[in-house]
Amino acid sequence: MSISKKIENIIAGSSFIRKMFEEGAELKAKFGPENVYDFSLGNPNVPPPEKFHEILRETVSTCGLGDHCYMPNTGYPTVCGSVAEYLSQEQQVPVTDKEVLMTCGASGALNVALKAILDPGDEVLTPIPCFVEYKFYADNHGGALKTVNSTSDFRLDLDAISEAITEKTKAFLINSPNNPTGQVYSEESLNGLGQLLEKKGKEFKRTIYLLSDEPYRKIVYDGVTVPSVFTSYKESILGTSYSKDISIPGERIGFVAVNPAATYRKELLGAMTVANRILGFVNAPALMQRVVACMQGMSVDISEYTRKRDMLCEGLLSYGYDFIKPPGTFYLFPRSPIPDDVEFVDILKEERILVVPGSGFDGPGYFRIAFCVEDDTIKNSLPGFKRAIEKLR
Ligand SMILES: Cc1ncc(COP(=O)(O)O)c(C=O)c1O
Repeated sequence: MSISKKIENIIAGSSFIRKMFEEGAELKAKFGPENVYDFSLGNPNVPPPEKFHEILRETVSTCGLGDHCYMPNTGYPTVCGSVAEYLSQEQQVPVTDKEVLMTCGASGALNVALKAILDPGDEVLTPIPCFVEYKFYADNHGGALKTVNSTSDFRLDLDAISEAITEKTKAFLINSPNNPTGQVYSEESLNGLGQLLEKKGKEFKRTIYLLSDEPYRKIVYDGVTVPSVFTSYKESILGTSYSKDISIPGERIGFVAVNPAATYRKELLGAMTVANRILGFVNAPALMQRVVACMQGMSVDISEYTRKRDMLCEGLLSYGYDFIKPPGTFYLFPRSPIPDDVEFVDILKEERILVVPGSGFDGPGYFRIAFCVEDDTIKNSLPGFKRAIEKLR
Protein backbone atom coordinates (compact mmCIF):
# COMPACT_ATOMS: atom_id res chain seq x y z
CA MET A 1 0.00 0.00 0.00
CA SER A 2 1.36 3.43 -0.83
CA ILE A 3 -0.68 5.33 1.73
CA SER A 4 0.12 5.59 5.42
CA LYS A 5 -0.87 2.72 7.69
CA LYS A 6 -2.40 5.21 10.08
CA ILE A 7 -4.75 6.62 7.45
CA GLU A 8 -5.45 3.11 6.21
CA ASN A 9 -6.58 2.19 9.74
CA ILE A 10 -8.67 5.35 10.06
CA ILE A 11 -10.41 4.55 6.78
CA ALA A 12 -11.03 0.95 7.89
CA GLY A 13 -12.34 2.17 11.27
CA SER A 14 -14.75 4.57 9.58
CA SER A 15 -16.17 1.90 7.32
CA PHE A 16 -19.56 2.00 9.05
CA ILE A 17 -19.93 5.68 8.13
CA ARG A 18 -19.12 4.87 4.51
CA LYS A 19 -21.52 1.95 4.59
CA MET A 20 -24.21 4.24 5.98
CA PHE A 21 -23.68 6.77 3.20
CA GLU A 22 -23.69 4.08 0.53
CA GLU A 23 -26.84 2.45 1.84
CA GLY A 24 -28.48 5.86 2.19
CA ALA A 25 -27.59 6.73 -1.42
CA GLU A 26 -28.96 3.36 -2.59
CA LEU A 27 -32.24 3.90 -0.73
CA LYS A 28 -32.59 7.42 -2.17
CA ALA A 29 -31.93 6.15 -5.71
CA LYS A 30 -34.51 3.37 -5.25
CA PHE A 31 -37.31 5.22 -3.47
CA GLY A 32 -36.60 8.88 -4.32
CA PRO A 33 -34.87 11.25 -1.88
CA GLU A 34 -38.21 12.57 -0.55
CA ASN A 35 -39.12 9.05 0.61
CA VAL A 36 -35.93 8.54 2.60
CA TYR A 37 -35.78 10.25 6.01
CA ASP A 38 -32.15 11.15 6.40
CA PHE A 39 -31.24 12.24 9.96
CA SER A 40 -27.62 11.22 9.70
CA LEU A 41 -25.80 14.51 9.19
CA GLY A 42 -25.37 17.57 11.41
CA ASN A 43 -25.54 19.90 8.43
CA PRO A 44 -27.70 22.90 9.46
CA ASN A 45 -30.73 23.37 7.21
CA VAL A 46 -32.05 26.59 8.74
CA PRO A 47 -30.94 29.59 6.64
CA PRO A 48 -28.33 32.03 7.97
CA PRO A 49 -29.75 35.23 9.52
CA GLU A 50 -31.00 37.65 6.83
CA LYS A 51 -28.25 40.08 7.78
CA PHE A 52 -25.63 37.58 6.65
CA HIS A 53 -26.14 38.04 2.92
CA GLU A 54 -26.56 41.79 3.34
CA ILE A 55 -23.24 42.06 5.20
CA LEU A 56 -21.58 39.67 2.76
CA ARG A 57 -22.67 41.77 -0.24
CA GLU A 58 -21.60 44.98 1.47
CA THR A 59 -18.22 43.48 2.40
CA VAL A 60 -17.60 42.26 -1.14
CA SER A 61 -18.61 45.55 -2.69
CA THR A 62 -16.24 47.53 -0.48
CA CYS A 63 -13.23 45.21 -0.94
CA GLY A 64 -10.15 47.14 -1.97
CA LEU A 65 -6.53 46.52 -2.82
CA GLY A 66 -4.88 44.37 -0.16
CA ASP A 67 -8.10 42.90 1.14
CA HIS A 68 -7.22 39.50 -0.27
CA CYS A 69 -3.61 39.43 0.93
CA TYR A 70 -1.87 37.44 3.64
CA MET A 71 -2.37 38.91 7.09
CA PRO A 72 -1.12 38.14 10.62
CA ASN A 73 -1.59 34.40 11.29
CA THR A 74 -3.92 35.34 14.16
CA GLY A 75 -6.34 37.05 11.76
CA TYR A 76 -7.15 40.75 11.28
CA PRO A 77 -6.55 42.53 14.61
CA THR A 78 -9.80 44.49 14.18
CA VAL A 79 -11.76 41.27 13.69
CA CYS A 80 -10.11 39.69 16.75
CA GLY A 81 -11.10 42.90 18.57
CA SER A 82 -14.77 42.59 17.59
CA VAL A 83 -14.83 38.95 18.64
CA ALA A 84 -13.10 39.83 21.93
CA GLU A 85 -15.61 42.58 22.69
CA TYR A 86 -18.56 40.22 22.33
CA LEU A 87 -16.73 37.41 24.13
CA SER A 88 -16.13 39.71 27.10
CA GLN A 89 -19.90 39.96 27.61
CA GLU A 90 -20.52 36.31 26.93
CA GLN A 91 -17.75 34.99 29.19
CA GLN A 92 -18.14 37.76 31.79
CA VAL A 93 -14.41 38.51 31.83
CA PRO A 94 -12.62 41.23 29.85
CA VAL A 95 -11.08 39.65 26.74
CA THR A 96 -8.86 41.60 24.31
CA ASP A 97 -7.93 41.08 20.66
CA LYS A 98 -4.62 39.63 21.90
CA GLU A 99 -6.43 36.62 23.35
CA VAL A 100 -8.29 35.69 20.16
CA LEU A 101 -7.09 33.88 17.05
CA MET A 102 -9.35 33.41 14.03
CA THR A 103 -9.48 29.83 12.69
CA CYS A 104 -10.91 27.61 9.98
CA GLY A 105 -13.97 26.54 11.95
CA ALA A 106 -14.15 24.88 15.35
CA SER A 107 -12.14 21.93 14.07
CA GLY A 108 -9.38 24.34 13.06
CA ALA A 109 -9.59 25.87 16.54
CA LEU A 110 -9.29 22.50 18.29
CA ASN A 111 -6.39 21.38 16.10
CA VAL A 112 -4.52 24.63 16.65
CA ALA A 113 -5.03 24.42 20.42
CA LEU A 114 -4.02 20.76 20.62
CA LYS A 115 -0.95 21.36 18.44
CA ALA A 116 0.05 24.13 20.83
CA ILE A 117 -0.21 22.09 24.04
CA LEU A 118 0.44 18.40 23.31
CA ASP A 119 3.72 16.54 23.61
CA PRO A 120 4.01 12.94 22.42
CA GLY A 121 2.33 10.64 24.95
CA ASP A 122 0.12 13.36 26.42
CA GLU A 123 -3.48 12.44 26.96
CA VAL A 124 -6.65 14.37 26.24
CA LEU A 125 -9.52 13.27 28.43
CA THR A 126 -13.12 13.68 27.29
CA PRO A 127 -16.53 12.55 28.57
CA ILE A 128 -18.41 10.08 26.40
CA PRO A 129 -20.51 9.95 24.28
CA CYS A 130 -18.41 12.39 22.24
CA PHE A 131 -17.84 13.86 18.78
CA VAL A 132 -16.27 11.21 16.53
CA GLU A 133 -13.38 13.36 15.35
CA TYR A 134 -11.80 14.06 18.76
CA LYS A 135 -9.64 10.95 18.71
CA PHE A 136 -8.21 11.92 15.34
CA TYR A 137 -7.55 15.49 16.44
CA ALA A 138 -5.61 14.32 19.53
CA ASP A 139 -3.68 11.81 17.45
CA ASN A 140 -2.86 14.47 14.82
CA HIS A 141 -0.57 16.09 17.39
CA GLY A 142 1.00 13.04 19.03
CA GLY A 143 -1.56 12.82 21.81
CA ALA A 144 -4.09 10.14 22.69
CA LEU A 145 -7.76 10.56 23.47
CA LYS A 146 -8.89 8.91 26.71
CA THR A 147 -12.54 8.73 27.61
CA VAL A 148 -14.49 8.91 30.82
CA ASN A 149 -18.12 8.00 31.43
CA SER A 150 -20.78 10.64 31.93
CA THR A 151 -23.70 10.31 34.34
CA SER A 152 -26.76 8.41 33.10
CA ASP A 153 -28.28 11.71 31.95
CA PHE A 154 -25.07 12.72 30.13
CA ARG A 155 -23.83 15.28 32.64
CA LEU A 156 -20.26 15.56 33.93
CA ASP A 157 -19.45 12.79 36.42
CA LEU A 158 -16.86 14.55 38.59
CA ASP A 159 -16.03 11.41 40.60
CA ALA A 160 -15.33 9.42 37.44
CA ILE A 161 -13.29 12.32 36.04
CA SER A 162 -11.27 12.55 39.22
CA GLU A 163 -10.42 8.84 38.91
CA ALA A 164 -9.57 9.12 35.22
CA ILE A 165 -7.10 12.03 35.39
CA THR A 166 -3.49 10.84 35.44
CA GLU A 167 -0.03 12.37 35.26
CA LYS A 168 -0.37 12.11 31.46
CA THR A 169 -3.55 14.23 31.24
CA LYS A 170 -2.77 17.49 29.47
CA ALA A 171 -6.28 18.64 28.65
CA PHE A 172 -9.87 17.96 29.52
CA LEU A 173 -12.02 18.44 26.43
CA ILE A 174 -15.70 19.28 26.81
CA ASN A 175 -18.44 20.02 24.33
CA SER A 176 -21.54 21.77 25.67
CA PRO A 177 -24.16 21.91 24.20
CA ASN A 178 -23.13 18.40 23.33
CA ASN A 179 -23.02 16.46 20.10
CA PRO A 180 -24.52 13.82 20.21
CA THR A 181 -26.49 14.06 23.49
CA GLY A 182 -27.81 17.65 23.32
CA GLN A 183 -26.94 18.06 27.01
CA VAL A 184 -25.73 21.40 28.44
CA TYR A 185 -23.38 21.37 31.45
CA SER A 186 -24.42 23.44 34.45
CA GLU A 187 -22.41 26.28 35.95
CA GLU A 188 -22.12 24.30 39.15
CA SER A 189 -20.60 21.30 37.39
CA LEU A 190 -18.18 23.50 35.43
CA ASN A 191 -17.06 25.17 38.66
CA GLY A 192 -16.59 21.72 40.19
CA LEU A 193 -14.61 20.63 37.15
CA GLY A 194 -12.43 23.76 37.38
CA GLN A 195 -11.63 23.04 41.03
CA LEU A 196 -10.86 19.43 40.22
CA LEU A 197 -8.51 20.30 37.35
CA GLU A 198 -6.71 22.79 39.54
CA LYS A 199 -6.30 20.23 42.33
CA LYS A 200 -5.10 17.51 39.97
CA GLY A 201 -2.76 19.94 38.23
CA LYS A 202 -1.12 20.69 41.58
CA GLU A 203 -0.95 16.99 42.43
CA PHE A 204 0.74 16.12 39.12
CA LYS A 205 2.71 19.39 38.92
CA ARG A 206 1.47 20.30 35.45
CA THR A 207 -1.10 22.60 33.93
CA ILE A 208 -4.20 20.69 32.88
CA TYR A 209 -6.09 22.75 30.33
CA LEU A 210 -9.83 22.85 29.97
CA LEU A 211 -10.55 22.92 26.25
CA SER A 212 -14.15 23.89 25.57
CA ASP A 213 -15.62 23.12 22.14
CA GLU A 214 -18.70 25.34 21.79
CA PRO A 215 -20.05 25.47 18.22
CA TYR A 216 -23.64 24.92 19.45
CA ARG A 217 -23.56 27.63 22.15
CA LYS A 218 -26.43 29.62 20.65
CA ILE A 219 -28.60 26.63 19.75
CA VAL A 220 -30.37 26.26 23.10
CA TYR A 221 -34.03 25.99 24.09
CA ASP A 222 -36.47 26.84 26.87
CA GLY A 223 -34.39 29.73 28.23
CA VAL A 224 -31.30 27.56 28.82
CA THR A 225 -27.98 29.43 28.77
CA VAL A 226 -24.50 28.01 28.39
CA PRO A 227 -22.29 29.02 31.32
CA SER A 228 -18.89 30.67 30.91
CA VAL A 229 -15.83 28.41 31.12
CA PHE A 230 -13.53 31.40 31.63
CA THR A 231 -15.14 32.14 35.00
CA SER A 232 -14.98 28.46 36.03
CA TYR A 233 -11.28 27.77 35.45
CA LYS A 234 -8.42 30.05 34.59
CA GLU A 235 -6.43 27.55 32.49
CA SER A 236 -9.18 27.40 29.89
CA ILE A 237 -9.23 27.64 26.11
CA LEU A 238 -12.41 28.12 24.11
CA GLY A 239 -12.74 26.90 20.53
CA THR A 240 -15.81 27.59 18.46
CA SER A 241 -17.20 28.54 15.08
CA TYR A 242 -20.03 30.22 13.25
CA SER A 243 -20.84 26.92 11.49
CA LYS A 244 -23.96 26.03 13.44
CA ASP A 245 -24.84 29.31 15.20
CA ILE A 246 -25.32 31.11 11.90
CA SER A 247 -25.50 28.11 9.54
CA ILE A 248 -22.33 28.67 7.52
CA PRO A 249 -20.27 25.46 8.01
CA GLY A 250 -18.97 25.52 4.45
CA GLU A 251 -17.34 28.92 5.00
CA ARG A 252 -14.90 27.48 7.57
CA ILE A 253 -14.76 30.31 10.05
CA GLY A 254 -14.34 30.21 13.81
CA PHE A 255 -11.91 31.21 16.51
CA VAL A 256 -9.95 30.07 19.51
CA ALA A 257 -9.66 32.25 22.61
CA VAL A 258 -7.43 31.86 25.65
CA ASN A 259 -8.60 32.82 29.12
CA PRO A 260 -6.95 36.20 29.86
CA ALA A 261 -6.10 34.83 33.32
CA ALA A 262 -4.27 31.73 31.98
CA THR A 263 -0.77 31.32 33.42
CA TYR A 264 0.87 30.88 29.99
CA ARG A 265 -1.54 33.10 28.07
CA LYS A 266 1.16 34.77 25.96
CA GLU A 267 3.05 31.56 25.25
CA LEU A 268 -0.17 29.77 24.31
CA LEU A 269 -1.17 32.47 21.87
CA GLY A 270 2.31 32.51 20.35
CA ALA A 271 2.21 28.72 19.98
CA MET A 272 -1.27 28.73 18.48
CA THR A 273 -0.27 31.44 16.00
CA VAL A 274 2.60 29.28 14.75
CA ALA A 275 0.33 26.21 14.79
CA ASN A 276 -2.24 27.99 12.60
CA ARG A 277 0.55 28.68 10.10
CA ILE A 278 2.33 25.35 10.06
CA LEU A 279 -0.82 23.25 10.03
CA GLY A 280 -1.32 24.87 6.66
CA PHE A 281 -4.32 26.99 7.58
CA VAL A 282 -2.03 30.09 7.58
CA ASN A 283 -4.99 32.28 8.48
CA ALA A 284 -8.77 32.01 8.58
CA PRO A 285 -10.59 33.06 5.36
CA ALA A 286 -10.20 36.83 4.93
CA LEU A 287 -13.65 37.67 3.58
CA MET A 288 -15.47 35.61 6.21
CA GLN A 289 -13.44 37.19 9.01
CA ARG A 290 -14.70 40.60 7.93
CA VAL A 291 -18.27 39.32 7.66
CA VAL A 292 -18.45 37.62 11.07
CA ALA A 293 -16.91 40.67 12.73
CA CYS A 294 -20.21 42.42 11.92
CA MET A 295 -22.36 39.51 13.11
CA GLN A 296 -21.34 39.17 16.72
CA GLY A 297 -24.14 37.83 18.92
CA MET A 298 -26.39 36.91 16.01
CA SER A 299 -27.83 33.48 15.44
CA VAL A 300 -30.20 31.61 13.18
CA ASP A 301 -33.88 31.62 14.10
CA ILE A 302 -33.82 29.17 17.00
CA SER A 303 -37.62 28.86 16.94
CA GLU A 304 -37.18 26.83 13.73
CA TYR A 305 -35.15 24.21 15.58
CA THR A 306 -37.46 24.40 18.61
CA ARG A 307 -40.41 23.47 16.40
CA LYS A 308 -38.52 20.56 14.82
CA ARG A 309 -37.29 19.32 18.20
CA ASP A 310 -40.77 19.46 19.71
CA MET A 311 -42.43 17.73 16.77
CA LEU A 312 -39.90 14.89 16.92
CA CYS A 313 -39.93 14.57 20.72
CA GLU A 314 -43.72 14.54 20.95
CA GLY A 315 -44.00 11.81 18.33
CA LEU A 316 -41.23 9.61 19.70
CA LEU A 317 -42.38 9.96 23.29
CA SER A 318 -45.90 8.86 22.38
CA TYR A 319 -44.52 5.67 20.74
CA GLY A 320 -42.53 4.79 23.88
CA TYR A 321 -39.01 5.94 22.99
CA ASP A 322 -36.86 6.91 25.97
CA PHE A 323 -34.73 10.07 25.75
CA ILE A 324 -33.77 13.36 27.36
CA LYS A 325 -35.45 16.28 25.63
CA PRO A 326 -32.30 18.07 24.48
CA PRO A 327 -31.73 21.52 26.04
CA GLY A 328 -29.36 22.36 23.18
CA THR A 329 -28.06 21.44 19.67
CA PHE A 330 -30.14 19.89 16.92
CA TYR A 331 -29.54 16.31 18.03
CA LEU A 332 -31.77 13.87 19.86
CA PHE A 333 -30.06 10.84 21.44
CA PRO A 334 -32.71 8.24 22.34
CA ARG A 335 -32.00 4.93 24.00
CA SER A 336 -32.15 2.06 21.53
CA PRO A 337 -35.18 -0.13 22.37
CA ILE A 338 -32.84 -3.15 22.04
CA PRO A 339 -29.33 -3.33 23.49
CA ASP A 340 -27.68 -3.53 20.06
CA ASP A 341 -27.93 0.01 18.65
CA VAL A 342 -26.46 -1.03 15.29
CA GLU A 343 -29.19 -3.64 14.88
CA PHE A 344 -31.88 -1.08 15.75
CA VAL A 345 -30.44 1.39 13.25
CA ASP A 346 -30.85 -1.37 10.65
CA ILE A 347 -34.49 -1.84 11.72
CA LEU A 348 -35.03 1.90 11.21
CA LYS A 349 -33.39 1.59 7.80
CA GLU A 350 -36.13 -0.86 6.81
CA GLU A 351 -38.46 2.11 7.40
CA ARG A 352 -36.16 4.26 5.20
CA ILE A 353 -35.02 6.20 8.27
CA LEU A 354 -31.29 6.97 8.46
CA VAL A 355 -29.76 7.70 11.87
CA VAL A 356 -26.33 7.08 13.43
CA PRO A 357 -25.70 4.32 15.99
CA GLY A 358 -24.56 5.61 19.38
CA SER A 359 -21.56 3.25 19.18
CA GLY A 360 -20.10 5.67 16.65
CA PHE A 361 -19.89 8.26 19.44
CA ASP A 362 -18.73 5.82 22.14
CA GLY A 363 -22.34 5.73 23.31
CA PRO A 364 -23.54 2.18 22.59
CA GLY A 365 -27.19 1.45 23.33
CA TYR A 366 -28.33 4.79 21.89
CA PHE A 367 -28.76 6.36 18.47
CA ARG A 368 -28.46 9.92 17.19
CA ILE A 369 -31.14 11.76 15.23
CA ALA A 370 -29.93 15.01 13.64
CA PHE A 371 -33.18 17.00 13.34
CA CYS A 372 -31.71 19.82 11.24
CA VAL A 373 -34.01 18.68 8.41
CA GLU A 374 -37.24 19.82 6.74
CA ASP A 375 -40.37 19.65 8.91
CA ASP A 376 -41.88 17.24 6.38
CA THR A 377 -38.98 14.83 6.82
CA ILE A 378 -39.77 14.67 10.53
CA LYS A 379 -43.53 14.47 10.02
CA ASN A 380 -43.35 11.77 7.36
CA SER A 381 -40.80 9.70 9.28
CA LEU A 382 -42.90 9.40 12.45
CA PRO A 383 -45.03 6.41 11.32
CA GLY A 384 -41.77 4.57 10.52
CA PHE A 385 -40.37 5.29 14.00
CA LYS A 386 -43.65 3.95 15.42
CA ARG A 387 -43.57 0.74 13.35
CA ALA A 388 -39.89 0.15 14.19
CA ILE A 389 -40.47 0.13 17.96
CA GLU A 390 -43.73 -1.86 17.61
CA LYS A 391 -41.92 -4.61 15.69
CA LEU A 392 -39.98 -5.31 18.87
CA ARG A 393 -43.00 -5.75 21.14
C1 LIG B 1 -18.93 18.89 18.63
C2 LIG B 1 -18.37 19.45 17.37
N1 LIG B 1 -17.18 20.06 17.40
C3 LIG B 1 -16.64 20.57 16.27
C4 LIG B 1 -17.28 20.49 15.07
C5 LIG B 1 -16.63 21.06 13.86
O1 LIG B 1 -17.19 22.31 13.57
P1 LIG B 1 -16.67 23.19 12.35
O2 LIG B 1 -17.44 22.79 11.16
O3 LIG B 1 -16.92 24.59 12.77
O4 LIG B 1 -15.22 22.91 12.19
C6 LIG B 1 -18.53 19.85 14.97
C7 LIG B 1 -19.24 19.70 13.69
O5 LIG B 1 -20.18 18.99 13.54
C8 LIG B 1 -19.09 19.33 16.17
O6 LIG B 1 -20.29 18.70 16.16
